Amino acid sequence: MPQPYHSAAYDYDDDDDLLKKRRKPPPKTASAFLPSNSPLSSNCILIVLLLLSAVCLIVGISGIAFATAALRRPPRIVTVFRCGRAEDTLRTFRSKSLAAAGREDEGGAARPKVLGVVGVFTQFSAADRRAALRGTWFPSDSDALSRLDHATGLALRFVIGRTKDSKKMAALQKEIDMHHDFMFIDADEDNLKLPHKMLAFFKSAFNLFDAEFYVKADDDIYLRPDRLATLLAKDRAHHLTYIGCMKKGPVITDPNMKWYESSGNLIGNEYFWHAHGPIYALSADIVSFLTNARTNSLRMFNNEDVTIGSWMLAMNVSHEDNKALCEPICSSTSIAVWSNPRCLDPCDLKNKMTELHNISICSNSSTLPPEEEEDER
Ligand SMILES: *[C@@H]1O[C@H](CO)[C@@H](O)[C@H](O)[C@H]1NC(C)=O
Ligand SMILES: *[C@@H]1O[C@H](CO)[C@@H](O)[C@H](O)[C@H]1NC(C)=O
Ligand SMILES: *[C@@H]1O[C@H](CO)[C@@H](O)[C@H](O)[C@H]1NC(C)=O
Repeated sequence: MPQPYHSAAYDYDDDDDLLKKRRKPPPKTASAFLPSNSPLSSNCILIVLLLLSAVCLIVGISGIAFATAALRRPPRIVTVFRCGRAEDTLRTFRSKSLAAAGREDEGGAARPKVLGVVGVFTQFSAADRRAALRGTWFPSDSDALSRLDHATGLALRFVIGRTKDSKKMAALQKEIDMHHDFMFIDADEDNLKLPHKMLAFFKSAFNLFDAEFYVKADDDIYLRPDRLATLLAKDRAHHLTYIGCMKKGPVITDPNMKWYESSGNLIGNEYFWHAHGPIYALSADIVSFLTNARTNSLRMFNNEDVTIGSWMLAMNVSHEDNKALCEPICSSTSIAVWSNPRCLDPCDLKNKMTELHNISICSNSSTLPPEEEEDER
């Protein structure tokens, strides 16, 4: 009849002979591993020991099995998809290569700290434009892109939304596999509304990168990333800063005109001061505010540059006007070169970009001339 070890021991304590052999009762914490003279308790100990060994064996085997499974599993690949469906193909690519090399990924999905995110807005039909940029100022492969990103503190990416057209997507996938220079955002490219794409970009870029500035750019400008970085890195008193080539101008109320504004009656005859659309920058605090705005709570005008300008009018931001962001020809201080009328299709952007790139003052002059830097101090 099996008895608990303790009560058995105390039972024997009643017996005089055994009492003499045992100077003191076993401590309350005595376990089955303590030696005992009782044949009955020996049996119990044996059973308990066997049970314990079995448990240990099972725990051990499952531990080994788990470890083996964990080691054999392919390394974790971090695809950067956050709220609002954003993906950065270069980060995904780097994370894959690191995982393939058996190294840890770069802190998983934490937002990397950068000086600026530069989103070059592009469309599925604009492969030739992207090729023209990659043939000139935009890095042509993922290593060159990483190098420029590191050298300038910028994250340069082509920005594109989604399409339902699987052919277009398949064609783009080939380009992604080759260049890894896209940022995917939650915007509908099939029914493109530029102001919505702009807001989606700022939200996605904010979720993907911890940047000081978020820059929207077009895919037909000639950019000097080094000089843009110098501009963004300047000390500023105001933490809400809107940088661009600022303009005013008449509101277009003729529906047949290109820049027609259907909500023009809200504005009047002339626009408020706002940045030209091809390139402008918003500081992190502004983008944080926009990112947290409720869906559909911000007014959208027809024109994207007007839309962002109206938001900036409502906020207490510093409008930083910089004509180096809208120069028609390269100069020793130009940051972005583009012309009005814009290079719209049909426009041989490749030829235009190559022409500019061939000019040494466009592509091969110093980051910023010394006298400019002295002026700023
Ligand atoms: C606007 O921002 C400036 C600079 O940060 C600050 O000095 C000023 O008080 C702000 N104005 C309002 C109305 O909050
Ligand atoms: C650019 O320069 C190269 C050689 O320096 C020349 O072959 C090419 O035709 C030039 N392209 C343009 C568009 O000026
Ligand atoms: C760029 O400039 C440097 C000197 O400033 C010169 O040595 C080099 O040949 C130039 N490269 C091109 C492609 O013009």
